[in-house]
Amino acid sequence: MNETQKASAGNKIEFVLRDYVRELPHYDGDLDINTDTETPPAVVVDFRREMSEAHAIIIGTPEYNYSLPGGLKNVIDWASRPFAKHCLIGRRVGVFGCTPGERGGKAAVEYLRNIVPLLGATLIGPELLFPKINSLITPDGLLDASVLSPLAELANELAQ
Ligand SMILES: Cc1cc2nc3c(=O)[nH]c(=O)nc-3n(C[C@H](O)[C@H](O)[C@H](O)COP(=O)(O)O)c2cc1C
Repeated sequence: MNETQKASAGNKIEFVLRDYVRELPHYDGDLDINTDTETPPAVVVDFRREMSEAHAIIIGTPEYNYSLPGGLKNVIDWASRPFAKHCLIGRRVGVFGCTPGERGGKAAVEYLRNIVPLLGATLIGPELLFPKINSLITPDGLLDASVLSPLAELANELAQ
């Protein structure tokens, strides 16, 4: 989102864009907290702290092979530990799918909407799918109103 679009989503909302998909290592229990003296990699510590401090989280995803992209699943796996005391518990979470194809990420979004409550987070907003997304973003990053207004609505719901 650019500055104008942020403003139209509500000036009271601060968006922080993160791409932990690229930064987190592949989940490995041996890298995670095992004793009181060991800590997971610094990027995992930062990621979990940022998630637990966020009022709400929006996950936007494409669909890979009728499922969640592996990178996003890895992000969720890191977020979901330590078991029962993790950073997603109590978070407000909104989900949307966007793909150049016709499906708009439906399978990935359905999967996410199923697991968000199972992880102890609160699912907010309707199923949002944006197919043919390439035709809905200008080269300078402006979103078409058919994408922007549902996302702004979701952001406002998440901000409650
Ligand atoms: C391995 C792989 C599998 C994909 N499977 C699907 C799919 O099942 N359905 C779909 O609509 N698009 C599929 N796509 C297209 C992606 O959803 C997405 O539109 C495209 O990869 C661009 O997004 P990205 O740059 O974040 O990967 C697939 C792409 C990749 C790389």
